[in-house]
Amino acid sequence: MPIEYSARVARLPDYPLAGGYSLPDDVAMLASNESPWPPIPAVAEAAARAATTANRYPDPTNSALREALSRRYGVPATRIAVGNGSVDLLMAAGEALLDPGAELVYAWPAFSVYPHLPAASGATAVAVPLDARQRHDLDAMASETTVATRLVIVCNPNNPTSTALPLADIAAFVARVPPEVAIILDEAYCEFNLLDDPDASVELLEQHPNLVLLRTFSKAYGLAALRVGYALCGSESFVRAVHQVRQPFVVNAVATAAAVEALEHGDAVAERVERTVAARLQMDQGLRALGIVPAESQANFGWFDLPEGAEEDAVVGGLRERGVLVRAGRALGREGALRVTYGTTEQNRRFLAALGELL
Ligand SMILES: Cc1ncc(COP(=O)(O)O)c(C=O)c1O
Repeated sequence: MPIEYSARVARLPDYPLAGGYSLPDDVAMLASNESPWPPIPAVAEAAARAATTANRYPDPTNSALREALSRRYGVPATRIAVGNGSVDLLMAAGEALLDPGAELVYAWPAFSVYPHLPAASGATAVAVPLDARQRHDLDAMASETTVATRLVIVCNPNNPTSTALPLADIAAFVARVPPEVAIILDEAYCEFNLLDDPDASVELLEQHPNLVLLRTFSKAYGLAALRVGYALCGSESFVRAVHQVRQPFVVNAVATAAAVEALEHGDAVAERVERTVAARLQMDQGLRALGIVPAESQANFGWFDLPEGAEEDAVVGGLRERGVLVRAGRALGREGALRVTYGTTEQNRRFLAALGELL
C-alpha cells in the first residue's frame, strides 16, 4: 500500500521552477528576477565570518537584524518580522490568518506563491483580474473584499507584469479595507520603482495597524541564495502570529549577518539599482525596436505579449538554445507572454539579438 498523504497535499500547486541550475556559467539567467551581480564583497565577507561559528544555533529572535531594520526604517523592532525569504513570511501569514471558509483576495496574474495560501489552508481564493494596463484593479479588489475576507495581498510592483501603481492609489485602497482584514503589500521590487520613494509606504503603517509591508534581500540586495525577507508591520500582533506558526531558528546566522551588513551599504545598493534602471531603458528600447510594446515596468524585469504567430514554447526554447533563460507566461498566468529579468548590458544585448532572430 502506498503512503496516504493529507488531502491538502494534492491541492497544493507546484511552484513554477526556473530551469538552468546545472547549465554552463555563461548562460544568461534571466528567468528568476535575481540580481545579475554577485553580493557586495563586504557582505560576502560578513557571511563567511558568521559561518565560522556555525556550531551555534542562531539568535531565535534575530534581534541584530530586526534592530538594524528598525534603525533603517524607523519602525520599532517589535513590529518587524524576518523570514527565510519573504515567501516564508507569506506562507506563515496564510497559516496564521486563513481557515476553511475564509477568503483571500489577490490580483491575477501576480506572484505564483499566492495560490499556495488558499490551497494550504482551505480558504477561498478570490483572484481579481488585472486592468487593461496589467496593473492591479484596486476598485475591483475593494468590491471583492467582504465580511469573509481575512487577507488581501497587493503586489507593487507586480510580478510577473512588472507594473506598479502610485502610492496614493494604494493608500486610498488601504483606507477602504476594513481594519480587521490584514493587508500585505508585497514590495519585493520596491527599490526599483521610480513612481514613489520606497520609504514612503512605511509611513502608512502608522495609520493602519492591519497593514504589512513585505520586503526582501533577494532582489536589489542580491542575496537570493541566502533567503532573507522581512515584514514591516502596523501592529505587533502580526509579528507574534507568524512567529507562532513557524519553526524556531527560521533565519540562519549566515543569512542574518549578511543582511545586517548589507544594510550598511545603501550607496552600493542604490548604484546597482541605477544600473538596473539603465538596463530597463535598454531593454524597453530594444523590444520596441522589434515591434514589441512591453508593460510599463517599475521592476528589475520586463513583461510583454509575443507578437501574433510567435509560439511561446518555440521562443523560450529558441532563446535557451542561444544561451538565454527567460520565463514563459503560461506558467505565470498568461499564455503567450514572456517575462525577462534585466541582466548585465551584455546579457540584455544577447537576449534582444536572440529574440530578434526568433521572431
Ligand atoms: C512579488 C514577490 N514577492 C516575494 C518574492 C519572494 O522572494 P524571497 O522569498 O526570495 O524573499 C518574490 C520572488 O520572486 C516575488 O516576486
